[in-house]
Amino acid sequence: MAEMAAMAAMDYLDMRPPAGTPEVGALLCLHAFPLNARMWEAQQPLVAHGWRILAPHWLGLQRQQPEANSFDEMAMAVLTLLDRLQVERPVVCGVSMGGYLAFALLRQRPSLARGLVLCDTRAEADPPQAREGRLKMLTLLEQQGVAAVAEEMMPRLLGETTRRTRPEVVERVRQLALSNRAAGVAGVITAMMSRADSTGMLAAIDCPTLIAVGEEDVITPLETSRAMHAAIPGSRLVVFERTGHLPNLEQAERFNDAVSHFLVNAV
Ligand code: MLT
Repeated sequence: MAEMAAMAAMDYLDMRPPAGTPEVGALLCLHAFPLNARMWEAQQPLVAHGWRILAPHWLGLQRQQPEANSFDEMAMAVLTLLDRLQVERPVVCGVSMGGYLAFALLRQRPSLARGLVLCDTRAEADPPQAREGRLKMLTLLEQQGVAAVAEEMMPRLLGETTRRTRPEVVERVRQLALSNRAAGVAGVITAMMSRADSTGMLAAIDCPTLIAVGEEDVITPLETSRAMHAAIPGSRLVVFERTGHLPNLEQAERFNDAVSHFLVNAV
């Protein structure tokens, strides 16, 4: 069962292997925007293989507390959490904004990751046009709240196939987005628009790396993942057909199989 654990500063999802299954490692799962850590509940089956899943919520998204406004701040909080839990070398798995956070973590602690899963994400910083879009989104959030941001994002978050054929996934994603607090959402938008460019780090990544992407993703299209695959030595690339920006929710079973295969064979 997924269990919400609260430590001094950070709320996170903690899913452990069942009794009698030896723990083989930790999977640090970093969520996308405008969702939260509960998007990783769909990865519960991975614990049967001995993986403990730790998934932090962005600070301030789920409860009133000082929100993080930068990836550096959030990375520091995640590292503090891992140290408290005595988790030394997790496999770090980030979807989209979670990938931005993965890069910030590696910047602060280069030897952190035993393995890396970069899903529907990019290493580049926001170009000026994207920053303008973020400023408009902050205004929308201030004037009309979290629901308006969720509705603006929805058509791009999910692939065309999922939107047409999987109403339950559409509803799940909407509910995850609606459950967030406006202050936390503003913190994430602020962090995304001011994030550092991480492309210079790619060539130095020396842990096993899986790059995953949905072929219908319009936010981080396939070419972006192909370029990251070319830049990270020895990385593997998996493309999910008929899937958009959120493969772990849109095609949970295929995503779990791909990650599980990577964990068994590469990490
Ligand atoms: C996400 O899914 O985390 C966001 O779409 C990322 C972004 O807007 O850059």
